[in-house]
Amino acid sequence: MSSTELKGIDPKLIPTKKLRSGDQIPVVGLGTFGSDRFSHDEVAAAVKDAIRLGYRHIDCAAVYSNEKQIGKAITEVIAEGVVTREELWITGKVWNDRHREVKQACQESLDDLGLDYLDLYLVHWPFPNYHAPGCDGDARNPDSKPFRVEEFMHTWTQMEELVAEGKVKNIGTSNMTIAKFDAVWGLMTIKPAVNEMELHPCFQQQELFDYCVSKEIQPVGFCPIGSPNRPDRDKTEDDAVDIENPIVQKIAKRLNVHPAVVCIKWAVQRGQIPIPFSVRPNGYMSNLESAIKDPITDEEMEELKNAECNSRLIKGQVFLWEGAKGWEDLWDLDGTIAQ
Ligand SMILES: NC(=O)c1ccc[n+]([C@@H]2O[C@H](COP(=O)([O-])OP(=O)(O)OC[C@H]3O[C@@H](n4cnc5c(N)ncnc54)[C@H](OP(=O)(O)O)[C@@H]3O)[C@@H](O)[C@H]2O)c1
Repeated sequence: MSSTELKGIDPKLIPTKKLRSGDQIPVVGLGTFGSDRFSHDEVAAAVKDAIRLGYRHIDCAAVYSNEKQIGKAITEVIAEGVVTREELWITGKVWNDRHREVKQACQESLDDLGLDYLDLYLVHWPFPNYHAPGCDGDARNPDSKPFRVEEFMHTWTQMEELVAEGKVKNIGTSNMTIAKFDAVWGLMTIKPAVNEMELHPCFQQQELFDYCVSKEIQPVGFCPIGSPNRPDRDKTEDDAVDIENPIVQKIAKRLNVHPAVVCIKWAVQRGQIPIPFSVRPNGYMSNLESAIKDPITDEEMEELKNAECNSRLIKGQVFLWEGAKGWEDLWDLDGTIAQ
């Protein structure tokens, strides 16, 4: 179905979560990582139509290389009177190669997005290791290093300054671990409002989720559907497929919806904020509708705990440094920060 044939959803019906600043963030956002499959213009067209149809929360990042196109879409919907800037929630992220110049990176994103401020700005990964966009999974950058508290805090201090300057309303982290949070928590003047982390039925990260909640860090869940169409370089044989999980499929059958919708309902009802990606109007609108229609029962939520099988999809192996043993080193699995 084309977007013009679809009925929109009144954005006022979409619940919000209150962050530590008091700001309210809508409980479903639209992901914008087009991966290798969709052009920047296709993603931007989806952003524009999704806003027309009721989305207010858009998850952007400089490394997705489409902020210019998305900025044009946002400028147009505001000019057309569909929405005001204040009604939108726009998230941005500083990429790993700009940790020394966060303010310039943020200004570039603001310019590309055509905005005066971001609602939320995240440190995309907690170390300055970067790789060329689209590089092979085996690629390694010889400059990559393990996480360092001083280095992270240098980046975080610039994030805090952006809040003081009014360029961003909230700041947060992404891909953090409990060990890394513990190492920097006492040094942070402004505590993170959110942690964007991989969360889907087959990878629930219960311990980190509970830690975040206990620290008033709102979990935002990426790959909420298990990213079924992610690039082949991010796939390994053992990866679970959430939309093929029998518990997810059973609930989908009862509700007569796609299993993707069950993943989004589970996320919202558990308390994280999913940011599903789709450029198909039917796809992204059924995801938004998930937040307000036909909830999963308490028994089904209990049952979905059994879908957990520790299936991390975004392993981050391209960020490994010389001497690292494997991607597990990025995630501090034994509770200590790997060096
Ligand atoms: N912070 C980070 O490090 C990080 C890392 C990864 C991702 N992210 C963010 O998280 C967003 C979401 O992650 P993702 O794009 O990897 O994966 P995802 O949202 O789990 O999966 C997206 C895929 O699910 C399908 N889909 C979506 N809605 C559907 C529906 N209602 N019915 C059937 N299929 C549906 C889409 O297929 P169709 O195209 O066929 O609709 C799309 O290919 C990204 O776009 C990005 O903004 C952040």
